[in-house]
Amino acid sequence: MVCLGNICRSPMAAAVASAMVEQAGLAGRVVVESFGTAGYHAGERADPRADAALRRRGWPSGGHRARRLRPADLAASDLVLCADRANLADVRRLAGADGDQAKIVLLRSYDPDSVPGDDEIPDPWGGDDAGFDRALALIEQACRGLVGQLAGSTR
Ligand code: 4NP
Repeated sequence: MVCLGNICRSPMAAAVASAMVEQAGLAGRVVVESFGTAGYHAGERADPRADAALRRRGWPSGGHRARRLRPADLAASDLVLCADRANLADVRRLAGADGDQAKIVLLRSYDPDSVPGDDEIPDPWGGDDAGFDRALALIEQACRGLVGQLAGSTR
């Protein structure tokens, strides 16, 4: 899971996807991690508003430390799920022409309601708690689609 700062969207996405992976009986086969394309917040905990949004919906929270995405992380990942199109462009650039571009996609490509023009997880960082709740709702929907596909393909 990749966003810009790795303190809001991608930590929420990793928490939700990890919990769904466990519920689907896929723990041990699927490892979920999160990163930011920028290093401004490296080493920091998740934004308290992200943890609070997770708790409001009953997801596990806490324990996150922000990391900046490096080429080695990309090479080690089977699937790279980006929160928005700026993240997607940044990650594709980092992967380079020799990298596996096909595994780098928008997280919402797994959301059945995603349509062109409405296919991102908007950045809630500069907004209010409602923005975090909206981001989390989109994350949940995409992660349900993602883990449903993973469950189908590992059966
Ligand atoms: P995130 O949100 O990419 O969802 O973690 C942001 C966090 C920090 C900043 C921007 C977005 N920032 O500019 O510091």
